[in-house]
Amino acid sequence: MTSALDLAAALGHERVIVVHDPECGLCSVIAIHSSVLGPAVGGTRMRAYPSFDAAVADALALSRAMTYKAAYAGLALGGAKAVVDADPARPDKRRLLAAHARAVAELEGRFVTGGDMGVDGEDVRFMARYSKAFSHAPPAAGGPDSSELTAIGVHAGLAACAAALGRPLAGARVAIQGVGEVGGRLARRLAAAGAELLVADVDRERAARVAAESGARVVDPEEVLAAECDLLSPNAAGGALDAAALARLRCRAICGAANVQLAESGVGDELDRRGILYAPDFVASAGGILSLLFEWGELDAAATVARVERIGDDLGELFSEARREGRAPFRLAERRVEERLAAVRRAAG
Ligand code: PHE
Repeated sequence: MTSALDLAAALGHERVIVVHDPECGLCSVIAIHSSVLGPAVGGTRMRAYPSFDAAVADALALSRAMTYKAAYAGLALGGAKAVVDADPARPDKRRLLAAHARAVAELEGRFVTGGDMGVDGEDVRFMARYSKAFSHAPPAAGGPDSSELTAIGVHAGLAACAAALGRPLAGARVAIQGVGEVGGRLARRLAAAGAELLVADVDRERAARVAAESGARVVDPEEVLAAECDLLSPNAAGGALDAAALARLRCRAICGAANVQLAESGVGDELDRRGILYAPDFVASAGGILSLLFEWGELDAAATVARVERIGDDLGELFSEARREGRAPFRLAERRVEERLAAVRRAAG
């Protein structure tokens, strides 16, 4: 197995910080991939991994994806991610988060973070007591919730995919993998837009609840990737699109909020070869970090939502250009990011 250090070197990380606090049992990692464009942004995830090495590997891949997400969205921000290796249902969750937040505070603004899997808006507001690094776009301040913004962006992305397939979203069959903070909100939005929904979640109660609210049909989490549908929306953990999934997919396009959906880039090329339209995850899921535009006073709430909805137009343009060039859209999007980073690096000497 590749060591964490080899992986960080291969992916080009600037800094990887391991936090260990035996007093409360905290094991976490803060991975700063790039600050070429500005302070590094990325969510804080809490999840019980099979090993701490697996947590570090996830943080490395996720933080690199954040560099691409922020750069593609045109933000003057780099990419990072923090991962706390613990079950988010732990009764002492807040104690771990406090210890982790104190470590984040030591980075003095080089890392800007918000919620992610296992860490909701309330948790972020709690951690914000320890460090200004925690972005908490509070609905209390009249601001749009970052999970809602992510769902708005993916909704717009799915509409762009449907348009590329030559059909409206209304009446389209959409299979949603994962109906947590983002997927659940997405399901409600798509139901209101008239889509026919299939939903799946490893938390079956949650799937049943969202299905009842949105009129969706529940499918088994093992089966959702093989569901016959127009659009597939991965909104759970990363790596959903692997060789095994490829063999079973029966969708025409894929667009979701999950980060690092492709287990390896080759899967993306194969999707393209098979004519399955894949919306790059780092483009479709930018709604969450765009909440910072509101929080930093650059846009008001309505303009922030309008900016997030533009993700649909951005994807439509990307799909057309990729078709003209005969390349997979994710390859073209990656190239655009790499060109922007190279130009900024050159300008900085
Ligand atoms: N979890 C968000 C993402 O993956 C990151 C985020 C950071 C959200 C800061 C809000 C604020 O894009």
